[in-house]
Amino acid sequence: MQTVHSIAELRAQITAWKRAGERVALVPTMGNLHRGHIHLVEQARTLAPRTVASIFVNPMQFGPSEDFAAYPRTLDNDSRQLAAAGLDLLFAPDITDIYPRPLDEMTQVAVPGLPLVLCGISRPIHFCGVTTVVTKLFNLVQPDVALFGEKDWQQLVIIRRMAIDLDMPIEIVGVPTVREADGLAMSSRNGYLSPAERAIAPALYATLVSCAERMQAGERDYAVLENEAKARLTAVGFQPDYFEIRRADDLHRPALDDTGLRIFAAAWLGRARLIDNLAVPLG
Ligand code: PAJ
Repeated sequence: MQTVHSIAELRAQITAWKRAGERVALVPTMGNLHRGHIHLVEQARTLAPRTVASIFVNPMQFGPSEDFAAYPRTLDNDSRQLAAAGLDLLFAPDITDIYPRPLDEMTQVAVPGLPLVLCGISRPIHFCGVTTVVTKLFNLVQPDVALFGEKDWQQLVIIRRMAIDLDMPIEIVGVPTVREADGLAMSSRNGYLSPAERAIAPALYATLVSCAERMQAGERDYAVLENEAKARLTAVGFQPDYFEIRRADDLHRPALDDTGLRIFAAAWLGRARLIDNLAVPLG
């Protein structure tokens, strides 16, 4: 595996691959990698002969009171995992490579509408930071295919919309969530949990599963299901941010006859804000 830090080195390698007619797959990350990230790399290797991962803790997607400074930076360990997974190229730029001017003087890419719900309510600038950095990574790496985790479903939907709206010639592939044995979705932020909180954390997924089961059994009063789920999470020690049933493809509130639904949850547990979601195919 080759590791490059500068844009010039990255472009040189990408140009060589493109000249040889090789397809390139990209897995963007913020590092502190776990099996979920590595699974994305494994999937990428099945889709293209050349795989690139990026590690960049993107300041533009963190709010002023969020965990940008505390976000774990573990490049050596991440590199070892990526090399073992058979990655070809790791791009790990510095902030000044990606943002040579102050953040508020940089051009931004914003998708309308979709970022205004779910995580966007408590994280108003987050998705604009994501779409801006992903656009830059797409322009730098020029991948044929880019992979994103379904754990961040809203992010996946927003990036798909951006790629369509801006005619980006890139296939956006969603990869199912990798979970711990007890159901907890793998996340870099799970490391913020104390042992006692870690024992409570699987209740987030368990609550999604039981809500999905009740929907599949025919319950259609979504507001009741959402409120009961939030009460259950509060009772075990979470501070719920949202628990909402929405249409999977456009994140709209469902009509009674909609079938492609998904349940979305975000909740604080100690200093960790955990998110998860689950598909509910109906009918
Ligand atoms: P990060 O949180 O590091 O996640 C990188 C990718 O890994 C995302 O596509 C995310 O959805 C995926 N991922 C995380 N946990 C996963 C799990 N348990 N199973 C499967 N996939 C998982 O998401 C970001 O970084 C950033 O917003 C980024 C897209 C890199 C832009 O900065």
